[in-house]
Amino acid sequence: MTTQPPPDRRLSQLIFAVALTSLLVLGMVRVVFESLKNKGSINVVDLLKLQNHRVVRLPITVSDDEVIPDDCNVFEGKWIWDNISAPHYTEESCSYLVKQVTCRRNGRTDSNYQNWRWQPSACNLPRFNALKLLEILRNKRLMFVGDSIQRGMFDSMVCLVQSVLEDRKKSLVRIPPRKIFRAEEYNATIEFYWAPFIVESNSDHATNHSVLRRFVKLGSIDNHSKQWEGVDILVFESYIWWMYKPLINATYGSLDKVDEYNVTTAYRLAMETWGNWIEKSINPSSQTVFFMSMSPTHLWSWEWEAGTDGNCFSETQPIQKPIIYWGTGSNLDIMRRIKKVIGKLKIKVRLLNITQLSKYRKDGHTSVYGERKGKLLTKEERADPKTYADCIHWCLPGVPDTWNQILYAHILQDYHTS
Ligand SMILES: *[C@@H]1O[C@H](CO)[C@@H](O)[C@H](O)[C@H]1NC(C)=O
Ligand SMILES: *[C@@H]1O[C@H](CO)[C@@H](O)[C@H](O)[C@H]1NC(C)=O
Ligand SMILES: *[C@@H]1O[C@H](CO)[C@@H](O)[C@H](O)[C@H]1NC(C)=O
Ligand SMILES: *[C@@H]1O[C@H](CO)[C@@H](O)[C@H](O)[C@H]1NC(C)=O
Ligand SMILES: *[C@@H]1O[C@H](CO)[C@@H](O)[C@H](O)[C@H]1NC(C)=O
Ligand SMILES: *[C@@H]1O[C@H](CO)[C@@H](O)[C@H](O)[C@H]1NC(C)=O
Ligand SMILES: *[C@@H]1O[C@H](CO)[C@@H](O)[C@H](O)[C@H]1NC(C)=O
Repeated sequence: MTTQPPPDRRLSQLIFAVALTSLLVLGMVRVVFESLKNKGSINVVDLLKLQNHRVVRLPITVSDDEVIPDDCNVFEGKWIWDNISAPHYTEESCSYLVKQVTCRRNGRTDSNYQNWRWQPSACNLPRFNALKLLEILRNKRLMFVGDSIQRGMFDSMVCLVQSVLEDRKKSLVRIPPRKIFRAEEYNATIEFYWAPFIVESNSDHATNHSVLRRFVKLGSIDNHSKQWEGVDILVFESYIWWMYKPLINATYGSLDKVDEYNVTTAYRLAMETWGNWIEKSINPSSQTVFFMSMSPTHLWSWEWEAGTDGNCFSETQPIQKPIIYWGTGSNLDIMRRIKKVIGKLKIKVRLLNITQLSKYRKDGHTSVYGERKGKLLTKEERADPKTYADCIHWCLPGVPDTWNQILYAHILQDYHTS
């Protein structure tokens, strides 16, 4: 008999190593790069204009078929080929897209990955309507908090809404650790806040943070959370940065005593710190909170095709088998912790469980058509997808648009019932 560790143990150890090379370095450098490009600032004239802005709220009609029935689990369903309604925008039509995600422009030759629509089994998702969303967001802030995966969701949301706004009535500024998209006529903002562990860590500086020698302050959140105070709609996410080694250096309480924590334990403690903030600070009658489940990775092709030895590179079709397929990259132990912490909160936080539906999308990653260390891959690197394919981040237009469509469905529903 063999003495090898069981396959899932082997794989779960592997993800730590692969995640390190393909994601973390890349994410960091991109933030540096973006901050260098940031010349934007908000001037006083703009602020005055906003203050004098008298607005008339247009009534929004939400028809019955835009409302998700209570008994419909929108996360259960399948991907349907639909080159009529998807994508909602193109690389050309959304100038806010960063180079990291414009896979076609970066050399990807297939485009089918843009033409799939998520179809829940028991109901339909409402079609995304940017004008309705902006109207709901009038005088409000929508903020995405998390890592570079979450930044992709922010980028997608900006592209989904921006086409209905005139050029001079919209802007995107980078004020690290935030990116702020502003729709002036609506006095609405869509924002991204960089906090890869949600709680504080030495990776929080958006432009100069530790990637390899990271440690997390499991009990500290105030330096971040003071910038989330009063935000109308908050969407949190944190996962891949924890998945570097089975243990992680962290402090809890006293900041000078660093210990190695089991990642699962550390994640739970961080979630509890976050949960305490939620209970202390969120006003449920005016604020809404969402938590995104983990974005899945596609680092090993044998998970969906036995006997192969690749990754997401050159995949052009979603997984269509009608099987429940989870994959080793998405840690179920951590999923259970998230569920438990959220379940115990006195404030309602909705978990958007996008892991399974995204897991079908082995075709949606940036692969070799993204960036590494702030630069597009070289020809030589592209020729070596085993080392260089990024099977963590997603192309846009693409899978994160569906996450936003689901988020939109919830926001619309809240508006309808309020
Ligand atoms: C849409 O897909 C159908 C079926 O695959 C194909 O016949 C048609 O040419 C496609 N249309 C466009 C505009 O790509
Ligand atoms: C504009 O939006 C901000 C932030 O959501 C809000 O605090 C402010 O009251 C709004 N301004 C007006 C004139 O409603
Ligand atoms: C980045 O941070 C390190 C450690 O905190 C510091 O030594 C270094 O000077 C910083 N670099 C820049 C460019 O600010
Ligand atoms: C919060 O930020 C301040 C100023 O940047 C810093 O001095 C302090 O150490 C931070 N707090 C924690 C708990 O890291
Ligand atoms: C924790 O930090 C120590 C000292 O820097 C280092 O030797 C150790 O490898 C780190 N542990 C982990 C799990 O990164
Ligand atoms: C971490 O904790 C989990 C759950 O308690 C356990 O299954 C796992 O084996 C632990 N990992 C390590 C490296 O100790
Ligand atoms: C999310 O969905 C998956 C598969 O559909 C399921 O196994 C998991 O338990 C769900 N997570 C939570 C927290 O409900």
